Amino acid sequence: MPDSAPLPFHGPVYDMRALGFAAGEVVVITGGGSGIGRATALAAARSGLAVAIWDVTGDAADETARQARALGVAALPLTLDVADGAAVITAWEASRALGHCRYLVNNAGPASGTSGEFASLLAHAAGSMERVTTGWLERCGEDAASVVCLASIAGNFQGGGTTLQPFYPAAKAAIAGYVRWLATRHGGRPRANAIAPGLALTPRTIPLLEHPLVAETMTRIPMGRAAFAEEVASAILFLLSPAASYINGALLPVDGGWSIA
Ligand SMILES: NC(=O)c1ccc[n+]([C@@H]2O[C@H](COP(=O)([O-])OP(=O)(O)OC[C@H]3O[C@@H](n4cnc5c(N)ncnc54)[C@H](O)[C@@H]3O)[C@@H](O)[C@H]2O)c1
Repeated sequence: MPDSAPLPFHGPVYDMRALGFAAGEVVVITGGGSGIGRATALAAARSGLAVAIWDVTGDAADETARQARALGVAALPLTLDVADGAAVITAWEASRALGHCRYLVNNAGPASGTSGEFASLLAHAAGSMERVTTGWLERCGEDAASVVCLASIAGNFQGGGTTLQPFYPAAKAAIAGYVRWLATRHGGRPRANAIAPGLALTPRTIPLLEHPLVAETMTRIPMGRAAFAEEVASAILFLLSPAASYINGALLPVDGGWSIA
């Protein structure tokens, strides 16, 4: 049963302590200041994990950390752009001070409508996840247990849906390919998996709900609604966890059935 009443644009919250995480182990969550990243950080905190919240928006990371601490765990907010290689290394050094960095959620990425040069946006969106993961393996390889990357159904299960900019489905397909490559290395340490959300309610997407393309999308989702960020976070936490110990290289749609309709 949910342990708190749902609020507008917030989904039910479940007790996930049975997933097998050890209290005090660290999860690093990029883009943890908002939306899916924040919901994942709070779900991890409810599971007893210490959380390192990396976000380009410092105030947002601070707020997630405040909410995580209120759940009784250690939380470290760090302000950085995951596209900045030097900042990523510094952030790994800081995160290691929190404890054993066993888990990583590569969630930060540019919005699908971001305009700019295709190649640089592709490098930003997909390259940043590789950069953060490589930094983790170099600095915390002994501890690394499991990583989950945020892909999308765009580029993987469909051409792009409501996406207007071509870099986005291209980057999300690249991320899924990178995760599959990673899953075949190092004997499954870390396990590597990807999540493919359809449409999830976050500060990024809520302002778009009135757009005719989004309204039309709703009619194509068998469940007839978007996901709450907490519903995506539950799937991320499961794939990350010891309970998913034999799942490696998977790309899990969390889309209400949109991609198979
Ligand atoms: N919301 C959806 O419907 C949906 C669908 C498919 C995939 N996704 C993916 O899920 C992830 C999270 O999306 P969301 O909707 O929660 O977004 P959001 O905008 O609510 O949150 C993203 C967070 O990432 C941070 N961020 C962005 N770029 C960063 C960078 N370069 N370095 C550090 N932090 C950075 C932002 O400051 C923000 O706090 C993204 O990778 C997105 O592509 C979302």
